[in-house]
Formats: sequence, C-alpha cells, structure tokens
Amino acid sequence: MADSSAKLEIGGNTHDYAVKDGSVGPQVIDIRKLYADTGAFTYDPGFTSTASCESGITYIDGDKGVLLHRGYPIDQLAEQSSFMEVAYLLLRGELPGKDELAEFKTTITRHTMVHEQLTTFFRGFRRDAHPMAILVGVVGALSAFYHDSTDISSPEQRRIASHRLIAKIPTIAAMAYKYSVGQPFVYPDNNLSYAGNFLKMTFAVPAEEYVVDPVIEDAMDKIFILHADHEQNASTSTVRLAGSSGANPFACVAAGIACLWGPAHGGANEACLNMLREIGTVDRIPEFIARAKNKDDPFRLMGFGHRVYKNYDPRATVMQKVAKDVLEKMGVSDPIFDVAKELEHIALNDPYFVEKKLYPNVDFYSGIILSAIGFPTTMFTVLFALARTVGWVAQWNEMITDPAQKIGRPRQLYTGPTQRDYTPVEKR
Ligand code: CMC
Repeated sequence: MADSSAKLEIGGNTHDYAVKDGSVGPQVIDIRKLYADTGAFTYDPGFTSTASCESGITYIDGDKGVLLHRGYPIDQLAEQSSFMEVAYLLLRGELPGKDELAEFKTTITRHTMVHEQLTTFFRGFRRDAHPMAILVGVVGALSAFYHDSTDISSPEQRRIASHRLIAKIPTIAAMAYKYSVGQPFVYPDNNLSYAGNFLKMTFAVPAEEYVVDPVIEDAMDKIFILHADHEQNASTSTVRLAGSSGANPFACVAAGIACLWGPAHGGANEACLNMLREIGTVDRIPEFIARAKNKDDPFRLMGFGHRVYKNYDPRATVMQKVAKDVLEKMGVSDPIFDVAKELEHIALNDPYFVEKKLYPNVDFYSGIILSAIGFPTTMFTVLFALARTVGWVAQWNEMITDPAQKIGRPRQLYTGPTQRDYTPVEKR
C-alpha cells in the first residue's frame, strides 16, 4: 500500500516515512514509528491533520461538498433509499438484496422492545431532565440489562449488541420524550417502519388512534439517513476511543452520545433553533450577524460552518428540500422560519461568511423541520443521536475487527512545572 515516502529531518538525522494512498482522498504519512525513531511526538490539537484509523465506511471531500457511504452519494441515498437499507449498507458494506433487506428489517423490529425493568430505571430521573441526559444514562445502562451481548470477543454477541442498539434507540428516545411530558410510554408497533414506529411511540397517546402521516414519515426517514454516519467526527472518534480499551458497545455508544451533546457538534440543532427564537424578528438579524463577526464576542451563528465542508454541506442541500416539503405539507407559518430564510440569505452574501467559507450545515435546516413536526428543541439532539447510532455501531465493529487496532493513547506537549520537591503545608 506504500506508494512513496516522506522525509523528516530532525536533530541532524533524516528519517523516511511511508506515504500511503487511500482509494480516494488525501494521502497519509505513516508516522507510527516516529517516536521510536526520533523521540518526538506530533502536535495536532483538534486532529485537523490526523488520520486516526483506516476506514472503508464513509468518505468526505470537504472542498467539493461530497459525502459517500460505502461509495454511494448521500443525495442518492436520501432520495432513493431508506434508513434501514442505509443501516445495512453501513454495517455490512454492500446494499442488501430484497431478501437480505427483509431479513434485516425483521431482525431490527424483533429487538425494538426494551427490558420492562428499564421503565423503572426511567422513573429515577427528574421529569424536567434534559432528554439527552436521560439518553446518555439509559443507553449506558443497557449494559446492565443485556449482559449476554457485552463480550466483544464474540462475533455473535457483537452482532446482537449492534442490532439491539439500532433497534432500541428509537424506543428509548421516545420514552425520554414521553417521560418529560408526563405521558405514558407507548410500546413499539412492529407493523410500522423504523421512522413510523418512532413517530408513533413519540406522539401517540393511548386515548386515541394514531395514524402515521406518510409525508412526515418520509421526512423523518430522510433525516435519519442524513445523520446516519459522518466519518471520524468527534462523537464517532469518542466511540472508537472508548471501544479501543475493550469497553462494551453500550458503554461506548453512551460515550458517543455524551460527546454529541455539545453545541459545536450535535447540540447545534437545538442551539440553532434557540438562536432563531432569540433573534425573533427579521429586523434583528444584522445585530446578530455583527455579533458573530465580532472577535471579542464568543457568539457564533449556530448551524453555520463545518470543520470539513468548506464548499457546502451536501446534507444541508437535501435537508433544505425536506424542510420545504414538510413546511408546505403542514402549512406552518411561524416567524422563526422567516428569520431562518433571511438569516441564510444575509449570511450567504456577507463577505465575512463567504471568505471564511461558512455555509449553513445540516443542523441549520434540521431544527426547522423537527420544530414543524412538533418536536421540542430539547429532542433535536436526541434525534441526531438516534440516527447516528448506526454509524457509531458500524465504526465500532470496523475498529474491533481491524488487525491494526490498539488502545487509543495520545501523548502531549508538556508545559507544566518540571520536577520540584514537595513542602508540607505548614511550611508553604
Ligand atoms: N459563526 C461565526 N464565525 C464562525 C462560525 C460561526 N458559526 N464558525 C466558524 N467561524 C469562524 C471562526 O471564528 C474562525 O474565524 P478566525 O479564522 O477569524 O478565527 C473561522 O471561522 C474558522 O473557525 P474554526 O472554529 O477554526 O473552525 P472549526 O473547524 O474548528 O469549527 C465548527 C467548526 C462547526 C465547530 C464551527 O464552524 C462552529 O462552531 N459552528 C457553529 C456550530 C455548528 O453549527 N455546529 C454543527 C456542525 S455540523 C453537525 C455536526 O457535525 O455535528
């Protein structure tokens, strides 16, 4: 795989490092022997120039706005595929045949119920707890409920744990919502699609029949597809790092959920809607644009910018279309949507945002759709976590079976005090 080499001169010595080619994308310099050869580390806070692993799942070209899952462009998958099919693709590497898809769907639907004792576990939370706080706790607790699928050295247990996570996460997400609004939990309905079942568990009440709206169901499925995986982002890297020590997959996914919660990552969809509400009216947009540009103000336009995409976010392009369909179908007229449209227009034409290549990202539009469907803002990141679970699980499985896998253990540039002698407190 080594195609060429890179030379590094340090301390008067020259060292050669193999330069590897992937199937597409930037080359990588294999520096695994760097410390042994030179006694030096590399320094890359935020990992902007670091490939942490070899992966065959998702490819992103940030300059061209390309996102491929196992080679398939995200827009084709969002337009023509289904979340279950994309989940199969991410996990197994190829699109399923008809029978394989049917079998996969059956397997997932057979795992949608959660252990009844989990309902008691839920009742330990405060009613006003943030649903992400509940999600991170309950998913972590799954390892206490499903002992028979925590042995990561068993391929069969890994397979069952993977299916359990993908199947149960909508049930747990819906339960987190129901708990916060004081309504009874709704059991899964295996006659429905993955998205349809989630909508029912979230919005149905025992007193009335619930009919899944096909437009909303389709939009929900697309939202899940658009969030399914995204290469080695912060939460996925967290799942891999947690898993690298041999931790069980439920604990690893709980770690991923914790990381996703932050406003620079999955929490941006909630932060974005809160920001739109704070702006409130179109005439206040210039004030917020000015704040975003002010170096002394920590405020950022939520839903804008991306570490990797410097052209446009291909997920945002599809999401924008879904937003239009949902808003039209629901006949929603909310001043927030006017604010969003105008903010997008102003930012896309403002030299600060143009020069820094800050475009609306997936979270800018997803919050608008989710709000129109009726989700409270606190559920937005939960939905992101729900969809991303399949990506986390696929990446975790890939890592476990990678022969080059080692415990993740970065080093540091130490700038603290050098060795000094301890003095007892009475002498200080
Ligand atoms: N508003 C105003 N200025 C911004 C923004 C923004 N949203 N994003 C970046 N900048 C500026 C930043 O101040 C910096 O300016 P300068 O070079 O003058 O110091 C420059 O653009 C580069 O920013 P950075 O922080 O070095 O870029 P990064 O790659 O570390 O950060 C980001 C990427 C997504 C964290 C950041 O753009 C951001 O905070 N955006 C808002 C939060 C958001 O929408 N996050 C969702 C990301 S997409 C979903 C997901 O993957 O989770």
